[in-house]
Amino acid sequence: MKLGKIALASLALVASLYAGDAQKQSLLAVDMRTMLSAMQDVERAGFYSDVDGMKAGLNKLKGALRSLMTTDAKSYLPDDQAYADKFAHKRASMITMYADDMIAALNAKNMDDALDDYTQILKQCNSCHIRIRAW
Ligand code: HEC
Repeated sequence: MKLGKIALASLALVASLYAGDAQKQSLLAVDMRTMLSAMQDVERAGFYSDVDGMKAGLNKLKGALRSLMTTDAKSYLPDDQAYADKFAHKRASMITMYADDMIAALNAKNMDDALDDYTQILKQCNSCHIRIRAW
């Protein structure tokens, strides 16, 4: 329950971007939607204490990071973000790291650590989206 409650508040932040620009069909946008749905899967499974479901969601999340690594981040981040690609790649590798850490925490039945990891993943999403909104 704890996981779901905190996560719902933060997912609303991620989803607000989704509502704003749902028409775009770029590969980046497709991967973004996959990541949102993966995060929702993790959250839904969390409400049911479905550890396998949470792990499946985390693997789906990791599988959607490719375009963050390949898309030129200067095309979407503001001009003054000099190290755009470095920033995007760092977010992608942090998401991978926290997703792996969360899987390990779930395997160890450590829900507190799993919740921390989930929150850290959401922070990676929002830290980039906040920069785009400042555009
Ligand atoms: C390094 C930057 C960056 C990170 C990290 C990032 N995003 Fe995004 N996100 C974007 C950009 C850029 C767009 C706009 C893409 C477009 O419309 O082409 C976007 C758009 C979206 C959208 C709207 C897609 C649509 O339908 O147009 C969703 C949903 C989304 N992101 C979810 C997530 C989630 C979930 C995470 C974390 C797991 C995340 N994003 C992490 C840059 C990022």
